Amino acid sequence: MTAARFTSTGDELFASGRLDEAMSAYRQALAHTPGFPAARMGLDAILERARTRDPNPSLRGLLLDAYADDGANWEAIGWGAANQLVVGWPATATPEAMAGDALLLAFLTKSLNRDAALERKLIALRAATAQALAQPSPSPSPPLVELAAALAEQVWLNEYIWPDDPAVPDGLAGAMYRPQPAPRAETIEEQRLASALPEIAPIVDSVSLSVAAMYETNPYPRWTHLPRRPKVDVRAALMRDFPHARAVAFEGPLAVLMPGAGTGQHPLSVASWYDKAEVTAVDLSRPSLAYGKRMAARYGIDNIEFMRGDILDLPKLGRRFDHVECVGVLHHMADPKAGLQAISSVLRPGAFVRLGLYGEGARRIVVKARQEIAAAKLPATLEGLREFRRRVMGGSLRRLAKLTEWEDFWSASLLRDLCFHVQEHRFTMPLLRRFLEGSGLTLLGFEFNAGASQRATDAGPLAFYRARFPGDRTLSNLANWEQLEREKSNLFPGYAFVCQKD
Ligand SMILES: C[S@@+](CC[C@H](N)C(=O)[O-])C[C@H]1O[C@@H](n2cnc3c(N)ncnc32)[C@H](O)[C@@H]1O
Repeated sequence: MTAARFTSTGDELFASGRLDEAMSAYRQALAHTPGFPAARMGLDAILERARTRDPNPSLRGLLLDAYADDGANWEAIGWGAANQLVVGWPATATPEAMAGDALLLAFLTKSLNRDAALERKLIALRAATAQALAQPSPSPSPPLVELAAALAEQVWLNEYIWPDDPAVPDGLAGAMYRPQPAPRAETIEEQRLASALPEIAPIVDSVSLSVAAMYETNPYPRWTHLPRRPKVDVRAALMRDFPHARAVAFEGPLAVLMPGAGTGQHPLSVASWYDKAEVTAVDLSRPSLAYGKRMAARYGIDNIEFMRGDILDLPKLGRRFDHVECVGVLHHMADPKAGLQAISSVLRPGAFVRLGLYGEGARRIVVKARQEIAAAKLPATLEGLREFRRRVMGGSLRRLAKLTEWEDFWSASLLRDLCFHVQEHRFTMPLLRRFLEGSGLTLLGFEFNAGASQRATDAGPLAFYRARFPGDRTLSNLANWEQLEREKSNLFPGYAFVCQKD
């Protein structure tokens, strides 16, 4: 059997929920062809979901292998690693005992923690490590220094969202608590890149200006790693998913527009995973784009251009695009429909547009959080964010504890984006219909696993639609979806959908 054959067997087993067997098929593929991207991706999706009540040495070994593989998805496997760390945490977790834990060190430097129980343990370990470092003698052992550096890296990843302790002095120990006076090499490089970015036009819209200020302070998201993936012909893949789309042949490279590119995580994935793509990444925030540009250089990705500008000014670019991906952006504009219109105006006929928007139903708890934040006058500063977390994770806002289940609770830029945003619209089906009307775009359908690390589909809502409206093979009638959403209010975690330019 070839690695591809083992992998497709793994994918079939995965899709039918037989994860143990899928895991061994992916491992066979990787044994056959080390690093085989599709098998790596499948195995990572299983490690992401792996939860055990007791320490599992074999899982631990697989997690360590994944952290040793630069092509693995460290963000995804962090979930499984956090579980192994929690269930294996010793009763007396002294810095000396923990300093030799290879999984802990890999996790701290490569995955953002998103587990409340582990956060408590790590914060206690940090305090004990600071104490050990404060001893006048003997001088700290290399493993202790390594542990402190790994904790400092985790705190850099979460943008210092854990509480500070002013009693801990700057230096090796202080780096586990706050940015140090000497800037990191990345920061210096980003400042240099930010000032040299080309600009479409100066930002003038007042909401765009305040959104820009927010993301200039907290570029979203901080990320460190681009996993290896098989190349994908995105237009062919979308034609398979939406067979009712119009087939339009494009010549030459695929001109991809990524408006609201953020720190480049999504645009760099597109630039490196999509076949023959030439990506233009546009954002209001220079520091965000500079972060992306630094990461592009690190991964040697040169088919991407970063430009500072407002989506409203896209027509001034004087270019045409064949494909757009714009996730988590338009709901932050004063008039999202004006943003969509600007995007639509720069597209070639037949271009695909992949969009992601907030849904009112899914964000009820966020609306409550925003009300509490306003009532308590918590500022959108690091102090305000820390205080909000303190209240949610055990203080007066415990009733919002479900927020800790959101991926965006766990770092400063993520949490600010989630609960402290200066501007957010939330969509409903009727609003979505009005949003698309007259835009020159036709809805092809919704995606329920977009961005997931595994291709196996969550067919739930689509199967529900098919069963209820068997006559509509396109699954794209908004009136039908509206009816289904009335019956199941949590049908959509947010609206992720694909349109095509008329
Ligand atoms: C939540 S972040 C999403 C970033 C990225 N799309 C992602 O999914 O990781 C929203 C981004 O949209 C950008 N943005 C918001 N309004 C914009 C506008 N009018 N023009 C350009 N970018 C905008 C912000 O600066 C920010 O980087």
